[in-house]
Amino acid sequence: MHLSVICNAAKVFAFMLCIDIVSSELPADQVSAMTSIYDIIHNNTAVWNSVSKTSDPCSWKGVGCTSNNSFINTISLKSSSISTSEFLPFVCNIPTLESLDVSNNQLSSIPYSFFTACGEISGLKELDFSGNRLLGSLPTFYGFPMLERLDFSANRFFGEVGLKLEMLDSLKNLDLGWNRFRGKIPTNLGRMNRLETFVLAANLFRGELPVEITKYKNLRVIDFSQNHLSGSIPVGFGEFTKLEIMILSFNSLSGGIPSSLSNITTLRRFSSNRNTLNGSIPLGMTSFLSSLDLSYNGLTGGIPSDLLSGANLDFLDLSFNDLEGPIPAIGSMKLNLLRLGSNSLNGTFPSASLGSRLGYLYADNNSLSGEIPLDLGVFKNLIHLNLANNGLGGALPPSLGDLTSLEVLNLESNGFVGGIPPQIILQLNRLEKLNIGRNLLNGSITASIGNLASLMELQLGSNQLSGEIPAMPERLQIALNLSHNLFHGPIPDSLSRLQNLQVLDLSNNRLSGAIPGLLTDLRSLTQLLLANNNLSGVVPTFGSRVTVDTEGNKDLICVRGNPAPETPQGERKKSSVVNSEVAIAAACGFPVGLLIAVIARFISRMYRSISGILPAPNSIHTPNVDFKKAMEAVSDHSNITFKTAFSTFYKAVMPSGTTYLVKKIKHTDKIVRFPQHKQLVEELEHFGSLSNPNVMIPVAYVLTLRRAYLFYDFVRGTLYDILHHRTGNKLDWPSRYNIAVGVSKGLAYLHECTFGPIILLDLCSKSILLKSLDEPQISDIELCNLIPPSSSECKYGSATAAGNVYSLGVVLLELVTGKPAVGDGDEVAKWVLSVSEWDQILDSNVCETSIGVRREMAAVVEVAIACVSVSPEMRPNAVNVVQMLLNTRQSDAVED
Ligand SMILES: *[C@@H]1O[C@H](CO)[C@@H](O)[C@H](O)[C@H]1NC(C)=O
Ligand SMILES: *[C@@H]1O[C@H](CO)[C@@H](O)[C@H](O)[C@H]1NC(C)=O
Ligand SMILES: *[C@@H]1O[C@H](CO)[C@@H](O)[C@H](O)[C@H]1NC(C)=O
Ligand SMILES: *[C@@H]1O[C@H](CO)[C@@H](O)[C@H](O)[C@H]1NC(C)=O
Ligand SMILES: *[C@@H]1O[C@H](CO)[C@@H](O)[C@H](O)[C@H]1NC(C)=O
Ligand SMILES: *[C@@H]1O[C@H](CO)[C@@H](O)[C@H](O)[C@H]1NC(C)=O
Ligand SMILES: *[C@@H]1O[C@H](CO)[C@@H](O)[C@H](O)[C@H]1NC(C)=O
Ligand SMILES: *[C@@H]1O[C@H](CO)[C@@H](O)[C@H](O)[C@H]1NC(C)=O
Ligand SMILES: *[C@@H]1O[C@H](CO)[C@@H](O)[C@H](O)[C@H]1NC(C)=O
Repeated sequence: MHLSVICNAAKVFAFMLCIDIVSSELPADQVSAMTSIYDIIHNNTAVWNSVSKTSDPCSWKGVGCTSNNSFINTISLKSSSISTSEFLPFVCNIPTLESLDVSNNQLSSIPYSFFTACGEISGLKELDFSGNRLLGSLPTFYGFPMLERLDFSANRFFGEVGLKLEMLDSLKNLDLGWNRFRGKIPTNLGRMNRLETFVLAANLFRGELPVEITKYKNLRVIDFSQNHLSGSIPVGFGEFTKLEIMILSFNSLSGGIPSSLSNITTLRRFSSNRNTLNGSIPLGMTSFLSSLDLSYNGLTGGIPSDLLSGANLDFLDLSFNDLEGPIPAIGSMKLNLLRLGSNSLNGTFPSASLGSRLGYLYADNNSLSGEIPLDLGVFKNLIHLNLANNGLGGALPPSLGDLTSLEVLNLESNGFVGGIPPQIILQLNRLEKLNIGRNLLNGSITASIGNLASLMELQLGSNQLSGEIPAMPERLQIALNLSHNLFHGPIPDSLSRLQNLQVLDLSNNRLSGAIPGLLTDLRSLTQLLLANNNLSGVVPTFGSRVTVDTEGNKDLICVRGNPAPETPQGERKKSSVVNSEVAIAAACGFPVGLLIAVIARFISRMYRSISGILPAPNSIHTPNVDFKKAMEAVSDHSNITFKTAFSTFYKAVMPSGTTYLVKKIKHTDKIVRFPQHKQLVEELEHFGSLSNPNVMIPVAYVLTLRRAYLFYDFVRGTLYDILHHRTGNKLDWPSRYNIAVGVSKGLAYLHECTFGPIILLDLCSKSILLKSLDEPQISDIELCNLIPPSSSECKYGSATAAGNVYSLGVVLLELVTGKPAVGDGDEVAKWVLSVSEWDQILDSNVCETSIGVRREMAAVVEVAIACVSVSPEMRPNAVNVVQMLLNTRQSDAVED
């Protein structure tokens, strides 16, 4: 006891004397290696900013040691913004290292000495360099006797792989995806044939699929998608006995599908979409599979009778082939998604021989005939049903109303007759898109249509519908199309409540009376089509954003410069409510200009209203918000700068001259769920503490009982408005490229956020705001907590990380094609996939400038196509997208 007191005292004394002492159990050589690494990393990045060089390296972020802290065994410096490679050779001075992860940094080279030195570490099992900027050809690996996992994906490597990995005898997992490797598929990957995962996706590999790789008996995953592979799928591939996933999509493979593949009892997923496979689909293909994608090939013959009855089958896509004959019975208990569109299938609607879990059925653009069966209710889980463009007829069965999960119903271009069953309108209250245009439907629309609370698009054009136009659902947003029917009577004033509506087509009917002046209130409107009716009176003045077509109404008078109609009473009432809130918000909104969040609270009898300034870590200025002035600005409609589905943005100029954009989040229809103020403030503070130039971060807020007002630095407008016609600016390619990279960086930042990933409710060109013509900012990052995912504005991509990447892909396609992504975002995606000529895809407004620009655009299309992969697992993550986009610039130099 005496002794230990002395020892302890001595330790304290030593500590006080020489501060540099390291209280680590690690061997000196490991401490010194880590100190060298520290010096380089610390100079280069912020990653160890809060770490003292003299502390035990085992306590540093990303450094893993054995449980008794005697050796270092893992180093993980992923996503740390490291751009220097100088620390790498020092890593090799740690002979006990088992795993090194430097993924998602900005490394551009690996020093040669790294390979010689680290090759001697006998226990090194794992090297992850994915998502960097590594440029050059692959080095030849010697040593590395225990290396099991090598990940070089999403870099800029080029050249052939050849025999360079032959000596990696322990190699199990190899990922070389998303580079510019060329030549043949390498087949010498460790002499012990231990390979289990083999990913070469998105490179420039050519030649045939080598049957030799069946020597890798443990192979579980093959992903060779997005290369230039040709020839046929070897029959010998049926010899794999452990293969679970085989992805061969986006190549030039030809010939038939070998029936031997159905012998692989372990195979869960087989994707060979976007090749030129021909012949028919063999029997037994889905005996074991859960996912089969053969879309976009040249397959012929009938769909085998057992294909839709696989016991595990969950996903099947056969669209865009030349398949013919009937759709066999759907016998699988698990089938969730079935795409059969754009074939030559005939016969009647498929029957479900077992209770079906089917959620998504697409059989559009075929030659189906007959009626929709009455027992349709079996498919009660259907969410999307698309039978458009077939030869179906007869009356629409009332049992359609039993499909109460339906969100999209598309029966366009068939021969349906009779009335629209009231059940469809009364019971399908999740419906977001209803398209029954181009049929022979008659009768009137029931007044209860106004109750379809989720409906965003209604297409009834080209039928024989009659009667007066009833009140329409107020959430309609994408389009209301009643054109080419027999509607009569006046255009109802009630249409002016459709505040989100973008396209209103009432043309080619028998409508009479005046055009209601209230329609000029439709603030989201871009197209108003009224041609060929019996309308009379004076055409009201619409804003310059609205294209109005009133041709063919002989009693209609157009007067230039007639006064805009008065503000309606409803509007006045609304603004007085705002004003009473203003008074309260203003009363409590004075603490201004503080560094940290200051929250003032005010409780009135009726409203509880609070406001505050949010912490802005990297902001150059402390927000100087005058809440009173700001609330005045938002009570004035003329200050509206633009709108999105859930928010209205106002411009508010402060007395100091600073301009803010104030977002008012609507709280109508109970769409927006406001949590308790306290919780909301906590969340806002969390968002306010973020810092990224490509994310729109709130700087202050005012919360009332019913509304939230969030303040941002001012931006010009939405990408959608600027890209698609509304302003005179034509975005050139360099701006579009910078927008693409910026948006991807913003998304990567949100997904990699150190507090935990922030997943966007949705992302689209309408939720991306532009600070300048090449500085995009992702907006509405707060909405994920306020709005249920099913009501998102841009109807594509689910609220998951992979769903966000899908949405990002759609935005990239909009930038390259110049086409808006209306409707389901996957229309622009599908369109791109279906067009083979670049000339048709690339926006001719920008691509004619130079060959270099065209190549870059084409490369961005490739990235976008990866993002919109049908299967979420095949999509790159946002960090990789950034890298891939940056690669599209630099790789040109080394290509060809
Ligand atoms: C770190 O930066 C300092 C000053 O910027 C420099 O003197 C030192 O040599 C740098 N250390 C390393 C290891 O690069
Ligand atoms: C620490 O643990 C490792 C195994 O994890 C062992 O090899 C080593 O001998 C231990 N060292 C000490 C000092 O206990
Ligand atoms: C499947 O395997 C069985 C037995 O291993 C073999 O007899 C049969 O020919 C194989 N089928 C195909 C289509 O290769
Ligand atoms: C499939 O295409 C190949 C050419 O790639 C052709 O030789 C063969 O006859 C075709 N088979 C069928 C069944 O059409
Ligand atoms: C319809 O299918 C045919 C092939 O059967 C295809 O060429 C066409 O592009 C498809 N149309 C649409 C709108 O998908
Ligand atoms: C379907 O098409 C095939 C030819 O592809 C034809 O023989 C058959 O009679 C058609 N069936 C129906 C129900 O139209
Ligand atoms: C609708 O059309 C059917 C024939 O397809 C006809 O029997 C019926 O009377 C029509 N109904 C109305 C309201 O015009
Ligand atoms: C409305 O529907 C008709 C018929 O389906 C179509 O021709 C027309 O283009 C649609 N209008 C708009 C503005 O899309
Ligand atoms: C906008 O709001 C300000 C208050 O910030 C107000 O003075 C002004 O009249 C409003 N209208 C316009 C067009 O700026």
